[in-house]
Amino acid sequence: MLVDETRLHIAIQKSGRLSDYSRGLLRDAGLKIQNGKNDLTARVDNFPADLMFVRDDDIPIFVSDGVCEFGIVGENVLREFSLGEDSPRFEVVAQLGFGKCTLKIAAPEASPYEGPQSLRGARIATSYPRILQRFLDDNGIDATVVKMNGAVELAPRLQIAAFICDLVSTGATLEANGLRAVETVFTSEAVLVRTRKPMAEAKVDQGAKLLSRIDGVLATKE
Ligand code: PRP
Ligand code: ZN
Ligand code: MG
Repeated sequence: MLVDETRLHIAIQKSGRLSDYSRGLLRDAGLKIQNGKNDLTARVDNFPADLMFVRDDDIPIFVSDGVCEFGIVGENVLREFSLGEDSPRFEVVAQLGFGKCTLKIAAPEASPYEGPQSLRGARIATSYPRILQRFLDDNGIDATVVKMNGAVELAPRLQIAAFICDLVSTGATLEANGLRAVETVFTSEAVLVRTRKPMAEAKVDQGAKLLSRIDGVLATKE
């Protein structure tokens, strides 16, 4: 399937906050998606495209390698990837208006906080080490970034770190873990990305068609 020069490959999140919206957007754009719950790929019946259901963190890699010509991913994931690359080989072609969330630094409810200087010398747990490090550098703060791949909200209770830096959407997770947001680091929503790797001409045309259909859907939602 990957070497098929005529079909586009679109990477979307397999499961998570963006999955249902991503499928919904493609359906609204007229793509008939056939797949079972556990399938990792799906063929689109009425458009020359195949969907790949992957982890959100892998989407920037696939799109910049050109394995997938398009991807739907959060700006947070994209930014974290881009900060580790010299020149990312993809471009954002649409802001999608869903998956809105904010990367925030949070502290235990009871702990005092008097602005960024309170972070000096502290340990901060996050799944976004590059974005956090950039924030710290921009604010001239020396702190230790502790990388965690999940369950970051547990770090203060486990005494892995005094602070966390994680995505906040409704705020329910912070509240459930006795944490409060103290700094906003990055604001994010889902975007459509396209590879910068050269594509076969048939795919360029199909990609333009896909993009104009998606633009059409987005226009009705403005
Ligand atoms: C984010 C974040 C929090 C949660 C916050 O995880 O890591 O755990 O959502 O949402 P809330 O403010 O609505 O409670 P996400 O769903 O992005 O999953 P991931 O970290 O596994 O990618
Ligand atoms: Zn993720
Ligand atoms: Mg999480």
